[in-house]
Amino acid sequence: MSYALEGRRVLVTGASTGIGAALAEGFARAGAVVGICARRESMLGEVLQRIRQYSPHSKMWAVDLADLEGIEGFARRVEAELGGVDVLVNNAGMPKRRRVQELTPEVVEAVMSLNYFSPVRLTLALLSGLVERQGRIVNISSVAARLGPPGEAAYTASKAALTGWSESMHVDLAPVGVKVHVVNPGVIDTDLFHLPDNDPGPTGIEALPVSAIVQPVLDQLESGTFEIYVPDWFVGIVDHKFPDTDAYLEGTIQWAHANTGESG
Ligand SMILES: NC(=O)c1ccc[n+]([C@@H]2O[C@H](COP(=O)([O-])OP(=O)(O)OC[C@H]3O[C@@H](n4cnc5c(N)ncnc54)[C@H](OP(=O)(O)O)[C@@H]3O)[C@@H](O)[C@H]2O)c1
Repeated sequence: MSYALEGRRVLVTGASTGIGAALAEGFARAGAVVGICARRESMLGEVLQRIRQYSPHSKMWAVDLADLEGIEGFARRVEAELGGVDVLVNNAGMPKRRRVQELTPEVVEAVMSLNYFSPVRLTLALLSGLVERQGRIVNISSVAARLGPPGEAAYTASKAALTGWSESMHVDLAPVGVKVHVVNPGVIDTDLFHLPDNDPGPTGIEALPVSAIVQPVLDQLESGTFEIYVPDWFVGIVDHKFPDTDAYLEGTIQWAHANTGESG
């Protein structure tokens, strides 16, 4: 089922940098009116200036999406000022590269709050409008949701929750004409790997430029595909994992601890 973006109202969260900013520009170039949000107003302003070259009615809001109580009001404001929402892109998120031995419940809950409860709240707040408009929901999850990478238990859990939520929601909403999509970035070169309070990022995996994610997501909307991986070779690892999870985890233990001197 093809899906033309021309004239659609698209809300992209976490669009001051990285994947969100690149997607916002991609949607604007495709003719959508784009709403962008994040905490850093000046960086949002720069993105807005760029996307208004293609879509002059695009808008921005500075908002902290970790404030769950504020989300309902934010959703109403976006609907009023953007003129409704046809496509919701839940992209805002935080990493947490920290071994489980160093995690605290507070850290785990903060990650869960931004990466899972916040998109859930925003989705529920916008859902009746999305149903009315036969809209789309795009959840930016992660390969972590399917692969459980080392040193990222809190992050992995938050993304697995988002992916599981998306799968069930996809089925629930199919009869009312709303499609749900999951995007699993692998390693895309963004600020995510340079934020404080995180262990260093993965080594030995080539990071793709942020532009690499835009066309696959536009194609996904067009084709109606539920889940994509960027880069797509991650599918091979997922295929390898599920027939034998024990063997997969044993291989991951060897890989993760090969250089640390720790044994499994
Ligand atoms: N890069 C990768 O390889 C990769 C891999 C898998 C999944 N992902 C996912 O892709 C998404 C985008 O990440 P990215 O790589 O583009 O990283 P990024 O450059 O750090 O972008 C994160 C975005 O989220 C916004 N954000 C963070 N906390 C927020 C809050 N409390 N309220 C509102 N906005 C907030 C940030 O803006 P402000 O700081 O201005 O608020 C920024 O615009 C995330 O969900 C991430 O988990 C990325």
